[in-house]
Amino acid sequence: MSDNPTFGGRLLIGAGGSGAVALLPVFLSALRAEFTGTVTVLMTHTATTFLPASTMGLFADQVVTGDDPRTWARDNHVTLAEDHDLYVVLPATANLLAAAATGAAPNLVATTVLESASPVAFFPVMSAQMWAKPAVQRNVAQLRSDGHEVIDPGVGPRYDVGLARVVSGPTPPAPPQFVAKVRELLR
Ligand SMILES: Cc1cc2nc3c(=O)[nH]c(=O)nc-3n(C[C@H](O)[C@H](O)[C@H](O)COP(=O)(O)O)c2cc1C
Repeated sequence: MSDNPTFGGRLLIGAGGSGAVALLPVFLSALRAEFTGTVTVLMTHTATTFLPASTMGLFADQVVTGDDPRTWARDNHVTLAEDHDLYVVLPATANLLAAAATGAAPNLVATTVLESASPVAFFPVMSAQMWAKPAVQRNVAQLRSDGHEVIDPGVGPRYDVGLARVVSGPTPPAPPQFVAKVRELLR
C-alpha cells in the first residue's frame, strides 16, 4: 500500500495504438493503490490489437472501444466527456497528437478530446525518431497553446516492440509519475 492519502474522481483514459498500451494495466495497478474513484479506458481500434479489451477490463471499471454500434447510445463522445472529471491520453500516439492538434475526429478517442469541456493531458509514447520530427513537435506546441497538457516523455532504455530490442530514447512515464500527475489534475 502507498503512504500517500487516497483521492477520487471519475477518470477517463484514452489509449492509443502504441505497443506501450500493454503497460497500461501496470499503470492502473499503481493508481489503484491511491485512487478510490472510477476508471474508464477508451481504446482505439489499433490499441485493441495490441491488448484485448477483455484484458484491459480486468483493471478498469469500464472499457469502451466504440466497435459495437449497440453501445453507441450509452457510450459516445458526449456521454464520455460529460461523465468524467479528467481525460488523460496514455499512450498518446503521433496519430492521436496530430488529430487533437488539428481538431480532427477520426476515432472516438480523438472525438472525445474535441468534446471535452476541460483540458486533456497527453502522455506521448513513440520512438526517438518520431518524437524528434518537427511535425510532431509542432503538434505538441499547438496542443499546449490550446490549453492542453502534454507531459514530456522520459529518456532512457526501453524495449521497442517494433525493433524487438532495447533502445535508448523516449520512455513512458514511470507509474508513480503518472499517479502523481492524475492526483494533481484531479485536485
Ligand atoms: C509494433 C508497432 C508499434 C507501434 N508503436 C507506436 C508508438 O509507440 N507510438 C506511435 O505513435 N505509433 C506507434 N505505432 C504506429 C501506430 O500504431 C499507428 O500510427 C496507428 O495509426 C495509431 O493510431 P491510434 O493511436 O489512433 O490507434 C506502432 C505500430 C506498430 C505496428
